[in-house]
Amino acid sequence: MVFTCPVVAVSEPTATQSAIYRRQTSAEGFPTLDGIETLYESFEKSVTQHKGLPALGWRELDKATGNVGDFQWMTYGEAAERVAHIASALAQLGIVAQDRVGVYGANCPEWMIAMQACNRMSYECVPLYDSLGDNAIEFVVRHSEMVAVVVAAGKLAKLAKGLEDLQASGEGRVKSVVHWGEGADAAAIKSLESKGFKVLSWGDALDAGAASPAEPVPPSPDDYCTIMYTSGTTGDPKGVLIKHSAVVAAVANVIYYCKEIDYEVGPGDSLLSYLPLAHIFDRVAEELVLHVGGRVGYWQNDTTKLIDDIGALKPTIFIGVPRIFDRIHAAVTGQIKKASPIKKFLFHWGFARKRFFLQSAFSQEGAAPFFDKLVFSKVKKRLGGHVKVIISGGAPLAPHVEEFLRVAMCAPVVQGYGLTECCAGASIAIADNWEQFATNGPPLPCIEIRFESVPEMGYDATDKAAPAGEVLLRGPCLFSGYFKQQDKTEEVVDSDGWFHTGDIGTLTSSGALKIIDRKKNIFKLSQGEYIAVEKLETTYSKAPPAEQASAASSARAVWVYGDSFQSKLVAVVVPKQHALQDWAKAQGKEVVAEIPSTHVEPVTSFEELCRDPEAADWVLKQLAAAGKADRLKGFERIAAVHLDSEPFGIENDLLTPTFKLKRAALKKHYQADIDRLYADLNAAAAAAPAGP
Ligand SMILES: *[C@@H]1O[C@H](CO)[C@@H](O)[C@H](O)[C@H]1NC(C)=O
Repeated sequence: MVFTCPVVAVSEPTATQSAIYRRQTSAEGFPTLDGIETLYESFEKSVTQHKGLPALGWRELDKATGNVGDFQWMTYGEAAERVAHIASALAQLGIVAQDRVGVYGANCPEWMIAMQACNRMSYECVPLYDSLGDNAIEFVVRHSEMVAVVVAAGKLAKLAKGLEDLQASGEGRVKSVVHWGEGADAAAIKSLESKGFKVLSWGDALDAGAASPAEPVPPSPDDYCTIMYTSGTTGDPKGVLIKHSAVVAAVANVIYYCKEIDYEVGPGDSLLSYLPLAHIFDRVAEELVLHVGGRVGYWQNDTTKLIDDIGALKPTIFIGVPRIFDRIHAAVTGQIKKASPIKKFLFHWGFARKRFFLQSAFSQEGAAPFFDKLVFSKVKKRLGGHVKVIISGGAPLAPHVEEFLRVAMCAPVVQGYGLTECCAGASIAIADNWEQFATNGPPLPCIEIRFESVPEMGYDATDKAAPAGEVLLRGPCLFSGYFKQQDKTEEVVDSDGWFHTGDIGTLTSSGALKIIDRKKNIFKLSQGEYIAVEKLETTYSKAPPAEQASAASSARAVWVYGDSFQSKLVAVVVPKQHALQDWAKAQGKEVVAEIPSTHVEPVTSFEELCRDPEAADWVLKQLAAAGKADRLKGFERIAAVHLDSEPFGIENDLLTPTFKLKRAALKKHYQADIDRLYADLNAAAAAAPAGP
C-alpha cells in the first residue's frame, strides 16, 4: 500500500495558533452517512435492510450447572419489535419528546433496546454508571432532571435508595422505573411503589407496549440523543450534550476510515460489547456495527470471563483500552518465557523477522506468512482468531505493547484519539503503517485540528515544521456544551467554536497527531480515568505520617505519581519522623533518631525505618484512611508508597521557592523508586489470575 500523507493545512498560522489541519478527502466538506441524519434513521434503515440477520447477542446462564451457553441472537426484526414495545410503554408512562431517561446497568441487549427506544421517541438517553463516584448516581439523576430510569435488576436497590433520598429532600423528577433481568429486589420495588413510583418489570413493559403501540416521534438531527456525564477532572460530573448529528458524524468518520483502508465493514462484522456503553468509545462502536448490519455480542459482565466471551463470539472488530492490551501482552510473554527453548527461539526469530518486514512497509498478510501460520496464529486466537482490526483508545498504548500487538496479532492495530466532547473520534492511525507507530494518526474527516501555543510549557504552535501546543478540535462530531454549565462550556469552547482539549499534541512528519503532555497537572491513567493530582495530594497530606512538616510552611510531604501507561497511582512520602517512630515503638522496634557511635544494641535509625517495608505498609494504610475519609474514588487510591527520610526542599530542587512540587524534578529524582514500585505492583497483578 502506498501511503501519502493525507493531512492538509487549510489556513495560515496566527500569532498563537497553528494552521487548521484537515484530512484530505476526495469529497467537498465533511463526509455524510448516505442521507441518514439521526440514530433513529440509522437503526430503521438496518431493520429494513437486515431484518432477519442477528443483531444483539447474549449468553444465557444455565442455573443447574452455573455455566453460560453459547451466544444466542436476536435479529434486527426482533430487536426492532422490542424497541417499539419499550418505547410505547415509556410513552404510556407519560414521557414526552425531549424528556430525559436514565439507563443504568452493565452492557446487555436491554441496555441497547432502551437506548434505541429513546431514539425512537426523541427522549434524551442519560447513562448512569458507578465509576463516576459515590454520590454521582444521585447527582446525575437530579442534575439531568430525568423522569424515568431503565435499570438492571442488580442495580435496582441502589437506585431505589437514591430516588427515595432525592424524593425526601424534595428533589428529583423520576416517576417511573423499568427494571430488566432476574433477581430484582422485591423489598426495593415495594418501597418504591409505596412512595408513589411506578415500577414495571421488563416483561410488563413489553406487554404494555405491545397492547397499546405508540407512534414513533422521530428526532431531528439537532436534537440531543444523549447527555453523557463524565467525571472530568475536578468537581461534579459534567453532562456532555451530544446531538444525533454528532454521533452520526462519528459513525461516518469510521465508515470513511474503513473504506480508506479497504476494510469492508458490514453484516459479516461482529463486536464484543464489554467496554462500558455509558462511555462514548463503546457507544460509537456499537452504533457503527448496528448501522452496517453487523452483530453486537454482549459480555457476561465479568472480567475474569472476558477471554471466554471473546472465544465464544470470535469478533471481527476488537476495541480496547491499554489496560486490556497490557494484560494480553503480559499473558503471552509469560507463556513464552515458560515455553521450550525451540518454541522460544521460533517466536523471537519470527517476531524480529515480521517486525522488520512490517517496518519495511509490507502488509500484515505479506510480512511473514510462514510465521503467522506457525507461531502467531496461536496469539491471534486469544482474540478469537477472526479479528480483522484492533483499535486502542482511551489512553496511549505503551510502545512495546503496540509493537507486540502489531506483530503478533495478525491484524492491523491502530491507536485513536478522542474524547466524549468529540464523540470519541478525533483521529486514528493509518493501519499497517509503521510511520504512524505510537501516534494517534491523522484527523478523521469530520474533524479539524489546530494547535495553540503554550509558552509557559515551551510549546510553539506556529512552528510550521512541527507545530506543538494544546490540541483544539472543531467539526460536526463535536458536543454542544455542558448541560446547565454555560460557564464550564465557555472555559473550553471559544467563540470560533474550537474545543480546547487540555491535551498537548504535535503533528508528526507523517501527518499524525501525537499527544505528548497535559496542560494542567491532570493526567489520565491507562484505564482512561483522569487524575487531578493536586486534589489528591491535599487529601493524602491529611494522613498523620504525611502531614506537612510544619504549619508555617505549605511544603508538601507527599507526592503522587501516575501516568497513562499505568492503571494505578504510587506516592513518595517524607514521613513525619516522630509519627513513624511512635508507630515503630508500638511495634516493639527500637528506634533512635541518631545512632550514637558507642551504641552496640541493634536499633533502627529514621533512615533505616524509612526502608522498612512494614513502615511503608503502615503509611499506605494511613493514606488509604485519609482517602476514604475524603471519599476518593477507587482509581484515586495509592497502590504503593516509597518513604524517604530527606524532605522535598528548595535546596535539593524538588520544590519551587513558593513550595510547589517540581513534578518533573521529582520524577527524575525518584525514577528508580517509581520503577521498582510499578515492577512490584505489576508482578503481583500478573501473578493474580484475571482476564485475558
Ligand atoms: C457488573 O459487575 C460488576 C463487577 O463485578 C458489579 O459491580 C456490577 O454490579 C455488575 N452490574 C450489574 C448490572 O449486575
